[in-house]
Amino acid sequence: MDYSIKTGDITKQRTACLILGVFSRRQLSALAQEIDKAGKGALSKILKRGDMNGESGQQVMLYDVPGVLAERVLLIGLGKPRDFGLKEFRKAMTGVIGTLDKGHAIDAVCGLTDLEIQDVSIYQAMRDAVLAAEEAVYRFDETKSDVKKRPRPLKRLTLFLSDRRRLKTAQKGLEHGQGIARGIQLTKNLANLPGNICTPTYLAEQARKLGRKSNKLKIQVLEENQMQKLGMGALLSVSRGSRQPAKLIIMEYKGGRPNSKPVILVGKGLTFDAGGISIKPAAAMDEMKYDMCGGASVFGSIQACVEMELPLNVIGVVPSSENLPDGDANKPGDIVTSMSGQTIEVLNTDAEGRLILCDALTYIERFEPAAVVDIATLTGACIVALGDQASGLMTNHQALADELLAAGQQTGDRAWQLPLWDDYQEQLDSNFADMANIGGKGAGTITAGCFLSRYTKKFKWAHLDIAGTAWKSGKAKGATGRPVSLLCQFLLKRSGQSE
Ligand code: BES
Ligand code: MN
Ligand code: ZN
Repeated sequence: MDYSIKTGDITKQRTACLILGVFSRRQLSALAQEIDKAGKGALSKILKRGDMNGESGQQVMLYDVPGVLAERVLLIGLGKPRDFGLKEFRKAMTGVIGTLDKGHAIDAVCGLTDLEIQDVSIYQAMRDAVLAAEEAVYRFDETKSDVKKRPRPLKRLTLFLSDRRRLKTAQKGLEHGQGIARGIQLTKNLANLPGNICTPTYLAEQARKLGRKSNKLKIQVLEENQMQKLGMGALLSVSRGSRQPAKLIIMEYKGGRPNSKPVILVGKGLTFDAGGISIKPAAAMDEMKYDMCGGASVFGSIQACVEMELPLNVIGVVPSSENLPDGDANKPGDIVTSMSGQTIEVLNTDAEGRLILCDALTYIERFEPAAVVDIATLTGACIVALGDQASGLMTNHQALADELLAAGQQTGDRAWQLPLWDDYQEQLDSNFADMANIGGKGAGTITAGCFLSRYTKKFKWAHLDIAGTAWKSGKAKGATGRPVSLLCQFLLKRSGQSE
């Protein structure tokens, strides 16, 4: 969709559809009041007929409204003015855009961005307007042969702003919104692809494709023989059970000063996780194509950095493999040696994410990172603990955790911190190796974090477990694009580009 911002007189907008808000008890928003005045009370007269009272989510499409040049006016209920915050604004945006996209209009002028939103600046209103609109029109049909084209999809959205003085910050919000939205789109598209198409090799190709977009982006892909030379015995032990060769994808975005230390994002890129010899039950196993969502979120975030031209050095690293049962696969009890030299007893071959991540985390020491965030669909236990509302956050540096928590709070893409107390570490004790790859019954998300913490001692590090937040199950099965919003906000803030 094409976006632009317009200031001026709302009654003079020539468009297929004008979107206006109405608060509870038929209270017209400021712009709706202007329209009402221009039409000599026509809007309030229509509302008095009782089709809507302004409760959140209600919609009424009106035609031939006096006082406007627009062909239609779409009214959306906003609820009580003092409850109208970011969440309600988003809901209103997705609601109206979803309606228009069904074929009412190919262009629209949206008055909702001009509303007073609790604790939300014009920068963020514009940014979130784009994110909500793109969320509403997203479809994944790459793998359908009979794509039902919507008859007249919404193509152009003009976001209205009455105060011309705020245009510059609004414009920045719009640009950032587009960069982040396209990052989310890339993340969802990669994630929704099935395991037979989206293999480690496919992901590596996508990285090279991304690299061709910008001369600030350098792509490097390590092959199995190179990983062998580096001693990545943990990572390679996972891919040994698969016909698809593992890849270690490195995407270096150089937007900052040449000598400034990079922020590194490391994403788990398990393109299919059957569990290996410790095979998973059949029910919903298809969803393990989503076990590369952490990696996909790194792709999306790096693309967003490129498109927003962030003045920051950011490196995206995606270790990618499949985890399948095979004659050559890891067996329970096998002991592997990681690149760090630490040995690992593989007591459960389904705890493979940490095996590929630990070698990637050792590898990145060479970049002398300013901070490292890994993102992984690491444990089912995280879904038990936090559901699909929050990603699990663990860290060895509280200030970094605070930045990420704040970014989650500001974007609504929230994370919740779990402790990494030393007390949990002993659950990883092994009789035969330096550590086991599982920590027994309790605190599965934390012991996975503890495992990773043994490979991140040399830098400031945080771990996001996105097992519950990266995709939805059931009828609306699909990737969510989380936590790209959180990551982009974190990076924008670090680069001084966002509030
Ligand atoms: N990819 C899974 C985690 C997962 C499971 C994410 C279900 C989302 C939904 C991971 O590789 C895994 O299998 N973890 C095991 C760890 C266990 C063996 C300690 C798990 O969570 O069961
Ligand atoms: Mn697994
Ligand atoms: Zn997994």
